[in-house]
Order: sequence, then structure tokens, then C-alpha cells
Amino acid sequence: MNNYPTKVYLNGTIIDAESAKISVFDRGFLFGDGIYEVMVQINGHFFYEQAHLDRLAYCLKEIDIVFDLSTIQQEIKRLLEVAKLLSEDCLLYMQVTRGTAPRTHSYPTNTPPTFMMYAVPKVLPEINMINAAVVTSPDYRWTKCDIKMTSLLGNVMANEFAMNQQCFETVFERDGIVTEASHCNVFFVKDQVVYTHPANQFILNGITRQIVLELCIKLNIEAVEKGIQFSEITEMDEAFLTGTSTQIASIQQIDKHFYYQGNAIGSITRKLQQAYLELK
Ligand code: PDD
Repeated sequence: MNNYPTKVYLNGTIIDAESAKISVFDRGFLFGDGIYEVMVQINGHFFYEQAHLDRLAYCLKEIDIVFDLSTIQQEIKRLLEVAKLLSEDCLLYMQVTRGTAPRTHSYPTNTPPTFMMYAVPKVLPEINMINAAVVTSPDYRWTKCDIKMTSLLGNVMANEFAMNQQCFETVFERDGIVTEASHCNVFFVKDQVVYTHPANQFILNGITRQIVLELCIKLNIEAVEKGIQFSEITEMDEAFLTGTSTQIASIQQIDKHFYYQGNAIGSITRKLQQAYLELK
């Protein structure tokens, strides 16, 4: 069980990972009928924990799963204690599915959700120094991308498309507008102005995305929540990705276009990376 977490929290019980089993009739397995959340603990505290828990609550509500989150912080602590990660830098994965029931598309009644979480050690670099190469693809996902759902086939396929070309990410384009990437949000900079897609049904409203927008205000950098035209990506001065474990990662190359040569990183991207580091 190398690279797996040691302990798994499953429906209130903390068990060894190899013993953590769910039914083949779990709707998460059959339909991808569930939502998830990922956050990181840094220096003994979950970074923007409340924002992550609020998004979890939002997603549960969006898909009509009734699940009580009032004791979740205690339960996370209990898991971290057993997993011996209480004060360690780690990544926490949480997932809630609509539970186990005979397979029908319609929601079952009186079925308790399945709640699973695990934590694994994860030390993030102070600043993500990668200068990523990314590719692009039409956004073939559905139109409720604001829900952090476990049905990630579109994202997984897009990520594989990038990996097959030795690239870090695939940036999506929908109706001529850049939306986000397979597991990150995407930002562009033109003439000192930062652009990112508005938080609507076409993107996940990343917590890191929201932090970056706050940092722009703090640093007096103009930021506009507007999706840029796909045809204009090569005219941008800088581009970067954001995400909980990606943090802020500069984009060096998009398809065949280079924003920078060598190790260069744009000045706005660097300012935001530095300011982000100071939040931790
Ligand atoms: N991915 N967009 C998509 C499609 C994502 O899957 C993610 C996060 C983000 C960035 O969100 P945040 O800043 O809140 O991490 C944007 C996570 C981490 C994952 O699937 O593992």
C-alpha cells in the first residue's frame, strides 16, 4: 500500500486504508454521484479552512445531499490524530456521495450519504517554481463546473491529454472564451491588468483563485473577472495557474506560444507568488 494514506475515515470510523471498503452499489461508484473537497494543512492550520468548508456545504446543497457538517472540524482532528498528522503539513481529501442503494437514476430516499476522508503528508514548496507548459482543448465538460463533483472524467481526460504531451495542464476553451484548466484556475495578465474567468457555472470558483483576487486588491493590481478570448492568449504578457496544491504556478508556454524564455517569470505573477507565500 505504498503511496496510499495509512488511515481512512469512513462513515465515522477510522480504519486502516486497506480495510476501507464501500459497496459496489455506492452511488459515487455507479454514477459519480458525489462531491469532494481538498485542503492543505500548513504550519498546524488548514489554509483557508472555512472557505473550503463553505464550498463543501455549497456543493452538498447544489446536489441536494443532506449531510451535517457541524462536527466536521472535530472529526478531521480525530482523523489527523490517528493518522499521526495532527501538526504535520498534509493534504486532506473529503468526499460525500449519495450513499448506497439499488441502482436507479432518481435519488433514493432515506439513504445515508457515504462520507470518506483521508490525509496524506504533503509539504508544499514556499513558492511553486515550475514554469509550466500547458496545452489547450475545447471544454467538453458539462455546464455545472461550479460543483466540485467526483464525476471528473472530463477533467481526467483533459489532464491525460496534457500528460501525453509532457505538459502540466490542459487549459479549456468554451465558445471562444478561456474558462479554466483540468485541476486549476487560469489567470492572464495584459498591460498590468489581471484577468480570470468570472465565477459562474463554467468554472470551479477556486479558493486559491479567490485569494489571488483578494491579493490583487491588497497589492493595488487591477483585476477583472472576465474570460479572455481564446484567440488572444498569445497576446497576453503573463499567464499563471492557481490551485490548492499548485498554489500559483507560472505558465511559460501555451501550445506553441512562449510567454517567457528560460526561467523568466512575469513581474505580476512573481508579486502574487510572494504575497501568497506571506499568507501562509
Ligand atoms: N482541484 N478548477 C478545477 C477544475 C479544480 O479541480 C481545482 C482544484 C481548481 C482550483 O481550486 P482550489 O484553488 O480551490 O484548489 C480549479 C483540486 C485541488 C483537485 O481536484 O484535487
